[in-house]
Amino acid sequence: MTNQGNNLDKWYGHYANRTAGLAASEVRALFAVASRPEVVSLAGGMPFVSALPTDIVSGVMERVIRDKGPQALQYGSGQGVPLLREQILEVMALEGIRANVDDVVVTTGSQHALELVTKLFIDPGDVVLAEGPSYVTAMVVFKSFQAQVEHVEMDEFGLVPEALRQKIARLKADGKRIKFLYSIPTFSNPAGVTLTWERRLEVLEIARSNDILVLEDNPYGLLYFDGAPPHAMRSVEEDGVVYLGTFSKTLAPGFRVGWALAPHAIREKLILANEAAVLSPSSFTQMIISEYLSTADWKGQINTFRDVYRERRDAMLRALEDYLPDLSWTTPTGGFYIWLTLPDNIDSKSMLPRAVKELVAYTPGTAFYADGGGRNKVRLAFCYPEPSYIREGIRRLSTVINGELELLNTFSQTAPLNLRGAEHNIINPPANLG
Ligand SMILES: Cc1ncc(COP(=O)(O)O)c(C=O)c1O
Repeated sequence: MTNQGNNLDKWYGHYANRTAGLAASEVRALFAVASRPEVVSLAGGMPFVSALPTDIVSGVMERVIRDKGPQALQYGSGQGVPLLREQILEVMALEGIRANVDDVVVTTGSQHALELVTKLFIDPGDVVLAEGPSYVTAMVVFKSFQAQVEHVEMDEFGLVPEALRQKIARLKADGKRIKFLYSIPTFSNPAGVTLTWERRLEVLEIARSNDILVLEDNPYGLLYFDGAPPHAMRSVEEDGVVYLGTFSKTLAPGFRVGWALAPHAIREKLILANEAAVLSPSSFTQMIISEYLSTADWKGQINTFRDVYRERRDAMLRALEDYLPDLSWTTPTGGFYIWLTLPDNIDSKSMLPRAVKELVAYTPGTAFYADGGGRNKVRLAFCYPEPSYIREGIRRLSTVINGELELLNTFSQTAPLNLRGAEHNIINPPANLG
């Protein structure tokens, strides 16, 4: 970078080189428009926190302040509140993980754990392997530490082991240093697919034999709709996996409490990195979560969330079948997302302004690739809007897609989609689309 400032930013030339990786998304400005109440947003992955009973949450908060105020309002340990770390073991046991409480490090959301692990391992030019597509804000972190993100192909059963093998071989032949494989094996963000058990074992074996650490990110694993998914990869591999968990989707993201479960040596460095970054994660919110886990029916609440999201997933699948029967999409058995494939010649990013004009928003597929992939893909989040809004959002999307195809057809011979059902506008648009 030069030392020259410019009219917009006097300090432009002073930033560290790595800040180049902190580029704002090109679609950010549109999302500001998309958050208007009349727009059906299928873009954001916001949990439906209104499904939480507020009296229980406020009761918990009141008890923490009344009974443990001085401790809750004080600095705490850089590793996290000991009782909460014990309780986190119980949560992880639901996914087959047996661990030692000393190996849990509480962080400010799992996003912060992602940043800390990246900070510990990545030098500029190091390679991070990630599914293609992968979680957008993980890639922002990797790029901000100047990692080279290399995608590995996935299909409806998750990461393809043979593609992983080939990718590693090619990168090694090019003399690259591969630091870790970042994976969201269960109800992935954005593809909504789940890595099978057989593939989990195969991926772990490939990582082990190539000396590559696995960073297993699992925010959605407990939000299953049709039966429990395969156990976490960490349940069978202790030394080669750093596992990330969070209370953001099973309770609420506003508390900003997540965790990392790491092999001993890594855990020591994580604690030091956590202290360097935040001194200690919030004692207050950790103690609220701990009290909630001790006194509330937290497993019942997860069941409630499952019911809410299952109904919304079903509504979205039905609407896709009714309004966009010619397209293909993934069928998630849990989590928040469906991954939609548009006709080859449609660019989902350039279609977005038209969609927002038609009062529906989504996230374009290119956001989930570090290499420009995903041009004709769309992530649809079904977690936040009510089922009737989801249906209306998909109806609007079908109009937009067909309009786009008609436009393209003006210049080529592309046939418009079969809009079965769209002509008889099955529901009236709800009055308030908030
Ligand atoms: C795959 C994935 N990892 C990590 C996060 C970060 O979650 P949090 O920092 O709220 O724990 C998210 C949030 O949406 C996510 O989808």
